[in-house]
Amino acid sequence: MRDSDRDPEGEPLTPELDAEAGLRPQALDEFVGQSELKEHLQIVLEAARKRGQSVDHLLFAGPPGLGKTTLAGIIATEMGVQLHVTSGPALERAGDLAAILTKLEDGDVLFIDEIHRLSRAVEEILYPAMEDFQLDIIVGKGPAASSIRLTMPPFTLVGATTRTGMITGPLRDRFGLVARLDYYDTDELRMIVERAAGIFEIDIDTDGAQQIARRSRGTPRIANRLLRRVRDFAEVRADGAITADVASEGLALFGVDDRGLDKVDRAILTNLCKQFGGGPVGLSTLAISVGEQPETVEDVYEPFLITQGMIARTPRGRIALAAAYEHIGMRPPAADRSEQRLFDA
Ligand SMILES: Nc1ncnc2c1ncn2[C@@H]1O[C@H](COP(=O)(O)OP(=O)(O)OP(=O)(O)O)[C@@H](O)[C@H]1O
Ligand SMILES: [Mg+2]
Repeated sequence: MRDSDRDPEGEPLTPELDAEAGLRPQALDEFVGQSELKEHLQIVLEAARKRGQSVDHLLFAGPPGLGKTTLAGIIATEMGVQLHVTSGPALERAGDLAAILTKLEDGDVLFIDEIHRLSRAVEEILYPAMEDFQLDIIVGKGPAASSIRLTMPPFTLVGATTRTGMITGPLRDRFGLVARLDYYDTDELRMIVERAAGIFEIDIDTDGAQQIARRSRGTPRIANRLLRRVRDFAEVRADGAITADVASEGLALFGVDDRGLDKVDRAILTNLCKQFGGGPVGLSTLAISVGEQPETVEDVYEPFLITQGMIARTPRGRIALAAAYEHIGMRPPAADRSEQRLFDA
């Protein structure tokens, strides 16, 4: 379980994750946004269907909660095949992967989440499987060991990663399509909130949905989570209906500010600006100061703060930009000092 799956209020995980699973769109048409990627997928799927072949291997990259797992499921559903799910850290030894590969049937989708965390030994098994649908299995040990080669049915590997930079070149090159998922805009998130509200039978008006969308950090998973929190608030403190005012009050109560930043985001900005004098400060030092793992800060919090022009990554560490100071109600040290630092670095 990763920190990105953890609810900020520290609630039990299962109901939240169940809710998430129930919200996953099943068809490409139901998947909101990412229009360019959707068009590419439509073509790739249609072509494979016409040729009666399995879909080429696909790699999805992007921050958590943007829909990588959802897309893997959609591909399997659209192709009418089985989806098999695993993840980089779960595949410790070559045999773990071999066991899964031997179970695949013609055209099946194998989804490997966090594929950047595969071990070398496991990657070595994956290469011939991806390229030639060949599986090399080592039988026996030591000098008596021999390798047997099995032919497996064609399958589609769908990889997901929050870190494209950590995928080895040879692995990356074996994917037929490498797609980056971008943060969603407010209109798209509003549609996602309205869709989820429909599924949960929540009474929400357009302005209420818009409020939630605006504060969802461009991320569908967060939009859905904020909707559930606002629904709780609306049921307990209002008449159950979500209007713009109810949404704003509810979100404020749960510590989500008007730009969608939560407690951890604000702690990152505050520590960076105050404790570390605007930086540069190393990722792990910054992460420790807010009580999070460096990977969580790097994958979950930082990308959005960077897109908001609040912080920047430099070779010497993280620095605060003017918008960070403004957001926490401080005056930036000097007019263009932060830009100057970018050039220093
Ligand atoms: N385009 C979309 N339209 C509607 N709902 C979406 C969309 N993308 C994601 N969601 C919703 O957001 C939630 C999170 O999506 P998903 O689990 O696919 O993200 P992810 O990219 O795999 O995240 P992670 O990197 O953390 O595994 C899902 O419950 C899904 O319902
Ligand atoms: Mg996922």
